[in-house]
Amino acid sequence: MKTKTLFVCQVCGTQSPKWLGKCPGCNNWNTLVEEQEYSLPPEIKRNLVFHDEPVLLTDVLIEKEERLTTRITEVDRVLGGGLMRGSVTLVGGDPGIGKSTLCLQVGCQLSQKGYKVLYVSGEESVKQTKMRADRLLTDNQNSFYIVNQVDLNVILDYIDKIKPTLVIVDSIQVMYHPELNSSPGSVSQVRECAAILTQIAKAKGIALFIIGHMTKEGMIAGPMVLEHIVDTVLYFEGERYSSYRILRTTKNRFGSTNEIGVFEMTANGLKEVLNPSQIFLSERPKDSSGSVVVPIMEGTRPFLVEIQGLVSRASFGVVRHKSQGFDVNRLSLLVAVLEKRLGLNLQDKDIFLNVVGGVKVMDPAADLAVVMAIASSLLERIVSYDAVFLGEVGLSAEIRSVSQILPRINEAEKLGFRKCIIPTNNQSIHQQLKNAKIEIIGVKTVKEALENL
Ligand code: TYD
Ligand code: MG
Repeated sequence: MKTKTLFVCQVCGTQSPKWLGKCPGCNNWNTLVEEQEYSLPPEIKRNLVFHDEPVLLTDVLIEKEERLTTRITEVDRVLGGGLMRGSVTLVGGDPGIGKSTLCLQVGCQLSQKGYKVLYVSGEESVKQTKMRADRLLTDNQNSFYIVNQVDLNVILDYIDKIKPTLVIVDSIQVMYHPELNSSPGSVSQVRECAAILTQIAKAKGIALFIIGHMTKEGMIAGPMVLEHIVDTVLYFEGERYSSYRILRTTKNRFGSTNEIGVFEMTANGLKEVLNPSQIFLSERPKDSSGSVVVPIMEGTRPFLVEIQGLVSRASFGVVRHKSQGFDVNRLSLLVAVLEKRLGLNLQDKDIFLNVVGGVKVMDPAADLAVVMAIASSLLERIVSYDAVFLGEVGLSAEIRSVSQILPRINEAEKLGFRKCIIPTNNQSIHQQLKNAKIEIIGVKTVKEALENL
């Protein structure tokens, strides 16, 4: 095997012959790491090739039972109506969020239905996993196999021997292919192991779950490269100190990417939350002014956040603008707009803004919600409880259109909101929302929006 040294970005997989401080592919700093270039020996490659002859498309038989329902409604829905045989699903998320638990629960459900499941655990011992499974209060795991292994070749042998319907690989970052020189977790290892597993899954009609840890940048470590290989990408996320978890897909070859699944982590594993809007209803004060909800975009994902404003009389003649999770300069600018264009009396007031849950909002679409929160607190008027507000605010208090309006509205609707106040310029979206249950109200200026207080 011939080897050559290369520098590979651990976030997006971009390669460079020399070290660079900033990755030209994804613009992240300090992500290039030295790896050895590799090429797999031909005898390994040959084993991975499909041996099927071309057939007529009309002759391709689709077995009736292609989709396996996991009996966990939220998972089935996010997957697009069940788990496809021969599909590869990447399950990403922060460490400790519950990825292993989720996959274990899916595995237990399928094994209860009599399917063979193989759980490859590279991180926790067999005993630890058994203890975890016991907590889940599921019995009849007669077709649930578990093994502690990180060597990919050995894992492939087990797959051959057991012939499972579902394979769970926990996690891809600890797996390694002995033919490659780089260390486990490096982009080459992660990519190559995932590619080999994917080919096996496709060839044998196995449903494969690959667990991957997310880096703090919010991407699955290394594995932006993985997203191209797999069929479905599921992210499991949640607040550190909250027991609620959200499962969402950013890619799905077998269904829509609009679905989310909501779970609660309990002492007996993950429980489905079938009415997620309750989470918001329970935490949000019902009759308090200054609380507004806005669907912001996090990358390609919509996300509902609550913005709270508090306006109080300044004590020493010096006004303070303080903000948590929102740019404080932008806050001052919006306050000036409220003062000058709407005549609100904010000159001698301290203004505090808080984005609940420690989220950082950069999205200009949150402007309107910020303005509403401040006005609501100043005027002691409550913002309609089931409404969300969207729009960028300009210096003449006009409301400007925002991007990706559709996923935002869908998210609000999914989480039980009934009214969406959006910029008039975005209203053409109406046609695409014909049978939506959410009411869309277009507004041109901040003044019009304030009429909704
Ligand atoms: P885990 O699935 O190990 O997370 P990941 O694989 O994403 O790293 O979840 C770990 C957390 O979940 C851990 O802090 C304990 C908690 N947990 C429960 O609260 N209840 C349970 O029944 C289980 C199995 C885990
Ligand atoms: Mg785990």
